[in-house]
Amino acid sequence: MENRILELLSGVVHPDTGESIVKMGLVEDIKCSPDETVPSEIKFKLTFTGHDPLSGAIKRECCSVLEAAFPGVKVSIMEMIRERKNVKKTVNELDTEELQKIKHIIAIASGKGGVGKSTVAVNLAVALAKKGYKVGLADADVYGPSVPKMTATEGYRPTAIEGDNGPSSFDLLVPVEKYGVKWMSIGYFADPDQALIWRGPMACNALKQMILQVRWGELDYLLIDLPPGTGDIHITLVQSIPLSGAVIVTTPQAVALADVMKGVNMFTHKDVNVPILGLVENMSWFTPAELPTNRYFIFGHDGGKKMADRLGLRLLGQIPIYMSLREGGDAGTPAALSDGTDAEAFLHLAERIAEDN
Ligand SMILES: Nc1ncnc2c1ncn2[C@@H]1O[C@H](COP(=O)(O)OP(=O)(O)O)[C@@H](O)[C@H]1O
Ligand SMILES: [Mg+2]
Repeated sequence: MENRILELLSGVVHPDTGESIVKMGLVEDIKCSPDETVPSEIKFKLTFTGHDPLSGAIKRECCSVLEAAFPGVKVSIMEMIRERKNVKKTVNELDTEELQKIKHIIAIASGKGGVGKSTVAVNLAVALAKKGYKVGLADADVYGPSVPKMTATEGYRPTAIEGDNGPSSFDLLVPVEKYGVKWMSIGYFADPDQALIWRGPMACNALKQMILQVRWGELDYLLIDLPPGTGDIHITLVQSIPLSGAVIVTTPQAVALADVMKGVNMFTHKDVNVPILGLVENMSWFTPAELPTNRYFIFGHDGGKKMADRLGLRLLGQIPIYMSLREGGDAGTPAALSDGTDAEAFLHLAERIAEDN
């Protein structure tokens, strides 16, 4: 019977690592009565190394697995804490240490792809750096990491170094520095064709490490270019990163409203509860170089503004369609680096963000 119970419990995984709690060696001293037939009572110990904030969730999961297999069974779990002796730090502990050096973590999100989320994220990072802030950007877009191309750093391969706290500290990934910003992208780890592995069940944890297990150093802003969409992986991801706020990027089209609402709901979800700093309307209008006072509202007029009003959100900025933005993105030299009007839109956006945060 003990083996049967062990087998059932091995299906319970630690939410942080995705590893089976049996494989991790957390389950000990299983006792059940009666031993032969269907048990009416099961007791065992769960031994954690140090305080584990997820122990409650793991215990609840153990109970529900056993109760489902043996209806009416009484389950008692004794939680034990083993002293930590010179072990490498867990990612969770590291989070708090590294994260203390970062003042604001801001997610850049959109309901769907192709609205210019990465363009806004990359140029906003450069604009904030131009204003004198210390900035990092983590590109977590599993479906199409664009930071390597947009910054011309495709060949970069991050090295891992030992953290600052001697032999007991965790290895940290080194970001690449360019244009005054520290960049990290899942695109640095795999060929674009291999990006599929990042969408598997371990994706969330791997992504979290790619964002948090990084030697960012002191930062005023860490921007996170999230994958487009609002699935379960997004909720888990935004839930496990201590975000100070989220910016939602949209185009002015009315059809995008539903997507924006999904994006907003993802952050206002009761388990996530991240404040929305506001909306950025991208591709607001097009002004040809030869007719500088003309504005062509290709995707509709003020759609983002109306949407912001309707949802009770701030409109943080309107970014026109500039050829230089697309060209800068393709060439790896963000338009925000220039002194032109294309850079201005992002400097205004940076000011709005910095006003409140
Ligand atoms: N305001 C803009 N003006 C001109 N081109 C833009 C603008 N915003 C985005 N683009 C272009 O549109 C394409 C999609 O943008 P991207 O930032 O990759 O979108 P997302 O990250 O939402 O998928 C890119 O080729 C980009 O250069
Ligand atoms: Mg993108």
